[in-house]
Formats: sequence, structure tokens, C-alpha cells
Amino acid sequence: MDGPTHVFENGDRMPLLGLGTWKSEPGELAPAIREAVGIGYRHLDCAPIYGNEAEVGEALADLFSKGGVRREELWVTSKLWNAHHLPGDVLPALKQTLRDLRLDHLDLHLMHWPVALRPGIGLPQGPEDFLAPAEAPLSETWAAMEEAVDAGLCRHIGVSNFNPHKLRALSNGARIPPAVNQVECHPYLAQRELLDLCRAQGILLTAYSPLGSPDRPARVRKDEDPVLLEAPEIQAIAGRLEVSPAQVLLAWALQRGTSVIPKSVSPARLRQNFEAQQLKLDPSDMTAIEALDRGLRYIDGSFWCPPGSPYTREWLWEA
Ligand code: A2P
Repeated sequence: MDGPTHVFENGDRMPLLGLGTWKSEPGELAPAIREAVGIGYRHLDCAPIYGNEAEVGEALADLFSKGGVRREELWVTSKLWNAHHLPGDVLPALKQTLRDLRLDHLDLHLMHWPVALRPGIGLPQGPEDFLAPAEAPLSETWAAMEEAVDAGLCRHIGVSNFNPHKLRALSNGARIPPAVNQVECHPYLAQRELLDLCRAQGILLTAYSPLGSPDRPARVRKDEDPVLLEAPEIQAIAGRLEVSPAQVLLAWALQRGTSVIPKSVSPARLRQNFEAQQLKLDPSDMTAIEALDRGLRYIDGSFWCPPGSPYTREWLWEA
């Protein structure tokens, strides 16, 4: 079954539905990728900070050698970690990702966050682990990412976790405009302003945590957060259509023209999520789901904003 795709200016096609790999435990991911490719997934979303790109590379090498899929049939996205924003660090970081994934190029390379950390830092332990925006300007990191396109190491570049102001500023000064902005997006965080801007500028919006990321780690969990998969309105629509709540969430994302990257390591749920591509919601259900927006971020970026950090949540999401 062919699902919906986004066609870039150069004719490259990205399947809108991809497999997310954040939070997949070691040992679970390679089998999940084999299963997903067997089901028909042709888009993988990766990042070095997920700590599992070598396992992705092992699964891909195995699939390529056994004829499970050809490289050119697969869309592979990865990301530049925050500790590699200094221009001289961008290409080496991308080359390490390519070694881990056992690929000679990425289809899409994203700047993971508009936040810079000192070289060598994974997750920050204190304010001394950050570089201030002026010490690692986003435009300079972007220029180095553009060079990676020139060098043939990736076909497209984009950003992640950029708000409308930051996206506009980066696009305005860019030689190669961002192809994609990957952000948290689901009915509780519909991202309407950002989606309108992306549509106007020909930028594809990719929705992460489309199921509300129920397995997100404790450090980003807040007690008061509602469970998206249990939203009564979503459950009611799912019940009426005899599909699962996850399928309603994914069909909604696809029908708005966003790319969407649900994570699963379960064969049954991988299949269920893939089959959501066939579900069509009628306009009244689309409108009812859109009305659930409450600006709720499960991943609110507060881990970038400890006391003394040069970053604040207002800077991240508003400025
Ligand atoms: P699992 O990997 O065991 O299938 P998100 O993509 O929003 O981050 O959400 C991922 C979480 O949602 C994982 O815990 C995943 O569990 C779970 N999940 C994935 N697909 C489904 C589904 N169809 N129904 C319910 N939960 C799902």
C-alpha cells in the first residue's frame, strides 16, 4: 500500500508516515525496523542523542543485504545534536551519524534544537554546559549544514523545535531554506500558527509525539498532563469508526498534510499505525479534533532552562 508523500522541489518524495525511534530500547529497535519495513514503512526518523543509531545501522545493513528494501526506496532522517552547533563540529557529527547508520548520505538532516551545548555534552547537568545564543549563532550552524548538502552528505536540511519567529529568521538569511520543521504536534498542541507559516513558505511540518508520547521519560513528565490516547473525544470518534484512538490521531495528522512519526516496537501496533493511512476522517471530525487544541506541550523544553541557563521557555517557544 502506498501512503501519502510530500514532494520536494527537486522531485524527492518523502512518505508522510515514518517510524519514530526515540525511546526504543536497545535490542528492541532492530527487530522493529525489520518488521516495519516488512509492513511497508519507508521513512525512518533517527537522532544520535537517542543512543541507538548503531542499532538502526545494523538493521539497515541486514535489510539491504537480504533484499528487504533498497537504500533508494527508504527515507532516512537524522539530526544534529546541540553539542555540535559550532560550525567546525557540524560535518564531523554528521559523518559519525553516517558511520553509525552505515549510510553514505541522509535524506534529511535536522538541527535538533535551537539550543547550543558545549562540545562533548549529552544532556546538560548545569548552566556551565550551555553555550549562549551569541556564542553559537543558529545562522552559522545552518551555514555549515548547507555545506553538508554541497558535499553530498545529505539531500535536504531542516530544523526541529523552531517557533515561527526563529523559523522566519533562519529562512530569511538562508542560502538553502529549511525543507522541514519537526515539532511536537497533536490535537492538544495543534501548532496552527506554525503550520500556516510552514504552508506559506513551502516547509513541511513533521509532527513528533503524535500519540502524546506515553512512554516519555520521567524527567519530562508532569503529573497534571492528560493522556492523549484517553481523550474522550478521540475515543468517541474511534469507537464510532471502529478504529483505535491512535489511528484517529495519525489520520488527523496525515489529513492536515503533516508528516507524522509514531514510535512503536510492537508488531501489532506498527501495523495498526501503518493502516491509519487508509482512514479518512470527515470534515466534522477534523474540526472537532482541531478544537481540542490547548497549547499543551508534553516536551516543554524546561530541561534547557535550569537556573542560570542562557535559555528560557519564553525564548524557546515565543521569541
Ligand atoms: P509501543 O512502542 O510499545 O508500541 P509517540 O510516538 O507519541 O512518542 O508515542 C509512542 C508510545 O505510544 C510508545 O509507548 C508506544 O508503545 C505507544 N504506541 C505506539 N503505537 C500505539 C498504538 N497504536 N496504540 C497505543 N499505543 C501506541
